[in-house]
Amino acid sequence: MVETNDEWIVSRTGIRTRHFAAENEYTSHLCVGAAKSLVEENNITIDDVDFVIVATVTPDQTMPSVSSQVQDKLGLAHAGAIDISAACAGFAYGIILAQGLITAGTHRKVLVFGAETLTKFTNYEDRTSCILFGDGAGCVLVEAAPKGNILAAVTGSNGDGGKDLYLSNMRKQINGQDVITDNKIHQNGRAVFKWAVTTVAEQMQVLSERSGLPLEKIDWFIPHSANMRIIEALCNQSGFPIEKTLESISIYGNTSSASIPLALHRGLREGKVKKGDRIMMIGFGGGLVYAGVVVEWQ
Ligand code: UT7
Repeated sequence: MVETNDEWIVSRTGIRTRHFAAENEYTSHLCVGAAKSLVEENNITIDDVDFVIVATVTPDQTMPSVSSQVQDKLGLAHAGAIDISAACAGFAYGIILAQGLITAGTHRKVLVFGAETLTKFTNYEDRTSCILFGDGAGCVLVEAAPKGNILAAVTGSNGDGGKDLYLSNMRKQINGQDVITDNKIHQNGRAVFKWAVTTVAEQMQVLSERSGLPLEKIDWFIPHSANMRIIEALCNQSGFPIEKTLESISIYGNTSSASIPLALHRGLREGKVKKGDRIMMIGFGGGLVYAGVVVEWQ
C-alpha cells in the first residue's frame, strides 16, 4: 500500500506482527473476548461486578458507549458503565478511577478494559502511521481488598500538544491550527516521541517517590507500547533494566489503550509476573495526556 519495508519497520519500531479485527468485529467484541479470557484463565466469576470502565478512542459508536454494550453482553445486571477517552493513557486512568470508586465505598468490583480497533481508523496512505497500529483488548478486575494494592498514581495533561496526535471527524481546528477531519489517526511522530521520552522518564521518578519504592524495588515496568525505541530510551535514561520491562509492541503493534494490559497478560502467561510483584505502568499519548500507577499484583 505504501513505500516501506520490514527492515525499516522492525528497526524503527520493533513491530514484528500485529492483529486486525475482522470487518464485522468491533471494540465491544474484543472486550467481551478479553473478559471471557479473564474468567477462564483465573477461574473466577464476574457476575457481581458493579462497574465497567472501557478506555478506548475507537468505540463501535460514539453512543451507545462500548461499556454499556459490554455490560449487556456479559450479563452484568448490576453494573454501571462508562467509556473514558484518554488514548494510550486510558487504561492507567481507568485503574485510577476504579481505585477511586472502591475507596469511596460506592463500588466493590470494577472491570477495567483497554480496548481498540485502531486499524479501522488508520490512514493506509500515510506510511509514518499505517505501519504502527494494531487491534486488541485487555482487562483487569479491580476489587476491594483489606490492604490497598495501588501504591501510587500520577496523572497529567499537555493539551497544547493536541494537534500532534488526533482523530477528528468534526471540529476542523485544534488549538487554532487546521486539522484533517477524515476520521483517521494523524500523528507528528517525532514530536510525540520526544515528549513521550521526556515526560515518562520524569513520571517514573515521581511514581517511585510517591510509592516510596526506588526503581530497584520495582519488579516490572510496563510503559505504553508505542515504539520499542521509546522503551529502550526510557530504560537507558532511568537505568531501569530492559529485561524487567514488559511490552506488547513486538507482537501486537501499537494498540493504544490495550497495549499495557496486553503486555501484562503476556507477562502473566509467560510466568514472569507473580503475586506480590510491584508493577509500574505508565500510559501516554493523544491529548497529549499521561497516567501511571504502581500496583502490587494480586
Ligand atoms: O501511541 C501514542 C504515542 N505515540 C508515540 O509515542 C509515537 C512516537 N513516534 C514514533 O514512534 C516514531 O516517530 C515513528 C515510528 C512514528 C517514526 O519513526 P522516526 O524514526 O521518528 O521516523 P521519522 O518520522 O523521523 O522519519 C525518518 C525517515 C524519513 O525519511 P527522510 O526524511 O529521513 O528521508 C521518513 O520519510 O523515515 C521515513 N519513513 C519511512 N520509511 C520507510 C517514515 N515512515 C516510513 C516507513 N517506511 N513506514
